[in-house]
Amino acid sequence: MVSSRTAPPERGTAEAPSREITPTLNPKGEMLWESSPSRYIAKVSLATGKEVLRPIDPDELLVGAHRDKNPIDVTAQYLASRLIQWTGNENAVKDGLRKVNLLGIKLAETLGSAMGSKAVEKRARSLIGVTDRDVFFKFREASHLSEKEVKARIEKLQRDARLLLKARGRSPRLHVLLTGATGFLGKELLAQAANDRRIERLVSVVRPESVRDPKTKEVLRVVSPAQRGALLLKRLHITGAKAKKFVFLGGDIEKPDLGIAPREMARLKKTLTHVVHCAASVSFDDTYENSFRANVQGARNALQFALGIQGAKGTKFIQHIAIETSYIHGRKKKTTAQENALVFPRNFYNNFYELTKAMASLETDYTLVDKGLRVSQLLPSIVIGHSKTGNNRGDTKVVNAPINAFGRSKEAMDALQADAVGRGKAWLIGAIALSFPGDASAELNLVPVDRVVEGILAALTVPESIGERIHLATDNRIRSDDIARITREEIGIDVRLADPTLFRNVTLPIVKAALERGGEPKLANALEKLGTIFGGYNEWGQPIHDVGNDVRILGLPVRRPNTEHAFRMLCRHNKFVQDFGKVRDLDEIARREYLWEKALGDIEHKTGRQVASLPPDEFRRFLTQRIDLKSFTER
Ligand SMILES: NC(=O)c1ccc[n+]([C@@H]2O[C@H](COP(=O)([O-])OP(=O)(O)OC[C@H]3O[C@@H](n4cnc5c(N)ncnc54)[C@H](OP(=O)(O)O)[C@@H]3O)[C@@H](O)[C@H]2O)c1
Repeated sequence: MVSSRTAPPERGTAEAPSREITPTLNPKGEMLWESSPSRYIAKVSLATGKEVLRPIDPDELLVGAHRDKNPIDVTAQYLASRLIQWTGNENAVKDGLRKVNLLGIKLAETLGSAMGSKAVEKRARSLIGVTDRDVFFKFREASHLSEKEVKARIEKLQRDARLLLKARGRSPRLHVLLTGATGFLGKELLAQAANDRRIERLVSVVRPESVRDPKTKEVLRVVSPAQRGALLLKRLHITGAKAKKFVFLGGDIEKPDLGIAPREMARLKKTLTHVVHCAASVSFDDTYENSFRANVQGARNALQFALGIQGAKGTKFIQHIAIETSYIHGRKKKTTAQENALVFPRNFYNNFYELTKAMASLETDYTLVDKGLRVSQLLPSIVIGHSKTGNNRGDTKVVNAPINAFGRSKEAMDALQADAVGRGKAWLIGAIALSFPGDASAELNLVPVDRVVEGILAALTVPESIGERIHLATDNRIRSDDIARITREEIGIDVRLADPTLFRNVTLPIVKAALERGGEPKLANALEKLGTIFGGYNEWGQPIHDVGNDVRILGLPVRRPNTEHAFRMLCRHNKFVQDFGKVRDLDEIARREYLWEKALGDIEHKTGRQVASLPPDEFRRFLTQRIDLKSFTER
């Protein structure tokens, strides 16, 4: 259950003064910028234990601002990661690193006091490369209430929801409003909702789409929300009576009332039973401002919208469901990321996406406890394609991006084998493109999209999920070296894991310069982007996301999907169905995925084995008996 306090600060930090979430004032009493992290996060002096009343620069909350400070720091990080691999004992190495750091601080202090100069000490610290922060960050508390009071409030909200749900009879007919229907999770939600008898009506808030010329960026045409909705249903093969439950409304999560027209609002106030807020900006390299607008302002608007519906006269509203991410726990070493404890991560965030999603979660806590919104928080880890088929309906982000890049590099290398110059170039591409920043021991938490959406739909009729943070993640995490092995087996390329610190600081700059000189600036940029965006998720010290609420509260099956199998099917899907991201037409992808799913079903039936357990060659043999891979048509 969400606590009144986000959680105590992590080891080695002092307790900061408590205060509920309100916009911060500067020393002159002026309100700080509304979108400042200071609204959610306090910067506290380690010396005084008091809040430092200066606005927080979003950059200082990212891991990138606190590493690679000088060659000694880089070398220490590199050696630590090697040692972890040799010894297999991450904790011992990290303890050792801390001791060395402390020794460095002592050395600098001794030198400073011997010379009687603080400046000397400072210089010595920076030369030795030791880090000793004089501030720490902590999340502001969501409420001034005691644990007991918060618990009582949440229990009442759950009780109310239970009664409201019961009042709708033994088979409740639900009216759900969804944001993010056109996205990766949203499409799966529409697909599963089509067959979910509890859902009588599903209203999706969709913004118009501007189709642009890929080169000039000129807007060629605008697809209306209704047109986007019709296309979605067609691509999801939802037709006839099933299609009738879906409605598509124009709107924008960055606007008050989600940008929904007043007349529609009046109607929704009388009919909606649930809001599922799934829309967000899932971009790991976006600016703070953009991420804030979509993820924090968007979440606030959705929460306010749901509060308005909950409080309306004659309302039928039961519950709001906020989709977040288990990576709101950021870079966390040593301790497990608990489902209900949100602590500001000692090792910061990888990117503004994670940071702003954490801020949105705090906003949700506040709206739950202080405003009394009946809201559940669901936190998927890294979402990949369908557990059995790998189908992703055209998604190319997150894990798909590096896999598609590897596949395309392999094709480029194969095409260059005709002459000696080509072979040289292919060798260069292979040497560079196929090394990926990652520690062999780093574990990734991948969860298939079907499991995530099963969790979201289950929550609709589980009032006990109100006031909870629930990780929709896996307990069978996959290691970087297993990812590299499966990629090798499935795509036929020898992905080598490169030490992330060395890759960032040495390999990438050299390689980038070489590629730019060799007339390959596009490849150079793509590699840089991939390395910087995904490197952080493959390093040692990844958080371990606790799971259990998905089964205990939502009632999902205790056997979570087999991650190795799901990842193998992601590779096969991206290779055969999407041609590593080159097939972009969503109608064509929908056609292929339909055929693919059918063929996989046939193969399973014939062999009596799960397709993911068939070795790559055998799988391909069975597949080509059913599908002509050139035209991707049924044989
Ligand atoms: N994918 C993952 O690995 C992952 C992991 C953990 C958590 N999550 C969470 O799951 C949710 C869905 O993620 P996803 O992967 O499905 O994202 P996605 O594929 O990028 O889709 C994002 C959706 O949000 C919509 N959207 C964005 N800004 C909007 C705005 N201003 N107004 C209306 N709609 C807007 C997009 O609409 P347009 O089509 O108009 O752009 C799209 O439907 C997010 O909350 C995300 O944080 C995702």
